[in-house]
Amino acid sequence: MLYDLTKAAHLISLFVWIGGMVAVAVALRNPNVIHLKPLKAYDQAVTTPAMILALLFGILLGVQGGWFTSSWLGMKILLVLGLSGLHGALVGKLRRAIWESSGEVNSGGRVFLPAGLVLLTLIVLLVTIKP
Ligand code: HEM
Repeated sequence: MLYDLTKAAHLISLFVWIGGMVAVAVALRNPNVIHLKPLKAYDQAVTTPAMILALLFGILLGVQGGWFTSSWLGMKILLVLGLSGLHGALVGKLRRAIWESSGEVNSGGRVFLPAGLVLLTLIVLLVTIKP
């Protein structure tokens, strides 16, 4: 029961985290400083805490289920580090776009959605198939 509740908390915080990342990535495709500032505040208040909770609940699941000796979890953690790094890069780009008040984002901003989708797909495949 406790394990199931922890898994539910893991998944709920994941949805909030990923939702916040998608919102920023979409906004950076057609940047407008008026919309970017509230997104930055939302990221600080909601998305980043959700990311931290998702990771903490994941670690708790790993401990409760004795999963830390499984190789799939090692691979998953590497991909999770990539996803967390993507979040950091996204927030960096958001800050820069606000600072410069230009609303301009170079073409690098367009890789966030496909890169996030690839990482998410691989993580979910790993945790469900557990190769
Ligand atoms: C420190 C980071 C993380 C750790 C240690 C971790 C660990 C775990 C563990 C041990 C489970 C339970 C597996 C089971 O009971 O079968 C789980 C479930 C799950 N995790 Fe994570 N996780 C982390 C981050 C993430 C991230 C970033 C995602 C997606 C982007 C993710 C997606 C999922 C999904 C979808 C499940 C449910 C799988 C199922 O019930 O079949 N996890 N996680």
